Amino acid sequence: MSWTPYYRGTGVPPTNRTKLPKLPPPPPWRAPAQQQETDSRKDAAITYRPVPGLVDAVNAALHLRRPLLLTGRAGSGKSTIIRQIATELDLGEVLHWHITSRSTLADALYRYDALGRIHAHNLRTLNGKAGPHGNDHEDDIGAYVQLGPLGTALLPGERPRALLIDEIDKSDLDLPSDLLDVLERGGFEIPELARHPKRGIQASTADKDRKHTIERGWVQCTEFPVIVLTSNGERDFPAPFLRRCIRFEMPTLSQERLTDIVAAHLGDIEESATAALVQNFLKKLNDGEYVAIDQLLNAVYLLRGAHVPDVDQRQRLEDMLLRGLGRG
Ligand SMILES: Nc1ncnc2c1ncn2[C@@H]1O[C@H](COP(=O)(O)OP(=O)(O)O)[C@@H](O)[C@H]1O
Ligand SMILES: [Mg+2]
Repeated sequence: MSWTPYYRGTGVPPTNRTKLPKLPPPPPWRAPAQQQETDSRKDAAITYRPVPGLVDAVNAALHLRRPLLLTGRAGSGKSTIIRQIATELDLGEVLHWHITSRSTLADALYRYDALGRIHAHNLRTLNGKAGPHGNDHEDDIGAYVQLGPLGTALLPGERPRALLIDEIDKSDLDLPSDLLDVLERGGFEIPELARHPKRGIQASTADKDRKHTIERGWVQCTEFPVIVLTSNGERDFPAPFLRRCIRFEMPTLSQERLTDIVAAHLGDIEESATAALVQNFLKKLNDGEYVAIDQLLNAVYLLRGAHVPDVDQRQRLEDMLLRGLGRG
């Protein structure tokens, strides 16, 4: 296979529509979502190559029922490992909580749509289906409670759930300590349901199409979730938080390890051109440039074999794909 310039920069489609070229299949990690559901999950699970020491760190966290806090540069494999853990230990679908500066613990536990419930009640009152003084038989408070990723991870179940709390260094300052509280208890209250006269109320979970009956407004795990927290090291965390995590710093990568990772994703790639790409990538890393493994995978995927025979074009593409990410 060789480099096909699908786009030529003319804006003119071929007069014969049947001549329109068919795009090549996407790289395995860029398949569309429906396909990815199964393919890429399996792919990430088997292509992941844990760095030395990481397997011990995961096992320590599993034994001690503590969250694993992974720190390291962007693209060093922090967010991906949980897929391997979850698949290997059969923990089901990984729950994701992606942190931003606006993330709150409350939202990750559950959301209660009070307004939506009032509107529905008013509508039924208008239609004569409910009285204004509470006698509303169609009122279903559970329909307005939606558990978030953390709330869902704390539901009781036979197997622990896998939860990724991604980029916790982006959070508001208090979030790590608040999170700790919930994790120490392994449970939390939903006051809106606790106050309700009905005991068991079905609420939606973060799993598609799965509801769970919550008794007396209290959610309590029976197995502590397997939690991976990731941080790009944008800030430090309070000591009480660190004390309760198993911490692991993703180490710098060697040529051998990088080659191994590339081979895991793209099959055996003995060619010297690939070795040159890995070397170039490593040199950038060692020079303190901020480059991520995804970039190396992109470069190897596009430039492998005799894909791009033109030397100058090849060099330009390589420079573009392996360009540093600034401070990440
Ligand atoms: N040890 C590894 N083995 C296999 N693939 C890896 C490894 N580390 C990183 N990758 C690949 O690099 C990409 C970025 O990894 P990711 O977990 O998103 O990094 P981070 O969360 O540290 O920014 C993913 O496509 C992942 O599959
Ligand atoms: Mg990540």
